[in-house]
Amino acid sequence: MFSYTPPTDFLSGKNILITGASDGIGKQCAKTFAQFGAKLILIGRSQEKLEALFDEIEADHPDTVYLHPMDFITASADDYSELAHSIDTEFSALDGIIHSAGLLGARAPIEHYPNSDWSAVIQTNLTAPFMLTKSLLPALTRATDARLLFLSSSVGREARAYWGAYGVSKYAIEGLMQTLADELENTSSVKVNSLNPGGTRTNMRRDAYPAEDPNSQPHPEELMPVFLYLFSEESKTICKATMNCRDFEPGKYLPPAS
Ligand SMILES: NC(=O)c1ccc[n+]([C@@H]2O[C@H](COP(=O)([O-])OP(=O)(O)OC[C@H]3O[C@@H](n4cnc5c(N)ncnc54)[C@H](OP(=O)(O)O)[C@@H]3O)[C@@H](O)[C@H]2O)c1
Repeated sequence: MFSYTPPTDFLSGKNILITGASDGIGKQCAKTFAQFGAKLILIGRSQEKLEALFDEIEADHPDTVYLHPMDFITASADDYSELAHSIDTEFSALDGIIHSAGLLGARAPIEHYPNSDWSAVIQTNLTAPFMLTKSLLPALTRATDARLLFLSSSVGREARAYWGAYGVSKYAIEGLMQTLADELENTSSVKVNSLNPGGTRTNMRRDAYPAEDPNSQPHPEELMPVFLYLFSEESKTICKATMNCRDFEPGKYLPPAS
């Protein structure tokens, strides 16, 4: 695994929004980014889990966390506008988004794939990142060096039978990332990339592979050097990159030195 130890306050003054912050990789990102000085806007579905995380982070880092519970399956356009409005009111700019929220849905052949799972997974894994990014682009553009990170998956890069809407949504998130990165490349300092965490010890992994020994997969904490690096000064020229935590090596994604 990639190793990176930035200065403890390197995210001080940065405002970062994390979706899926109530569990798994998003929750670990919240705890780690708070340790390095970021102010956090945390989105999750379960208010109870978010409040427990709030207490945990605020005990060591007071005035760090702003909670915004939201269910992406039922969220309306007005809900995204209200979030953008409260971010505009509370924060001068938004320095980054980590789109970590994800829903696995059914594992079934397309012929028998449940329609309700299709809608829920596409809403959560694709429509929500689109709506959030679109409504928050003005706040991201006000930052000098904002980062947008879409969490992807190996089934969003090579299709696999029975992964249904989940795999399709991850293919689409790669398309959203590339389209937006291309649009912003010459007009904005916002950097847009996708990152596949790879198998990680979370509830989603347990649901996808119930027979697997959870300890065979890395804990979310082990991925954090990659996430931290992707919000550092050193990575500010990385854009439109399709990356993996497992084989992460900055030289693969940094443009050649001129
Ligand atoms: N873990 C892996 O092995 C693995 C591998 C490849 C890619 N990924 C990707 O990495 C990301 C994080 O996965 P994870 O393993 O951390 O998943 P996880 O432990 O299952 O956590 C998922 C998070 O998404 C939130 N969420 C789910 N549905 C939502 C909805 N409708 N509205 C709002 N929030 C919702 C959950 O909120 P609540 O807890 O409040 O319900 C939770 O915070 C996902 O995008 C996933 O596709 C994971």
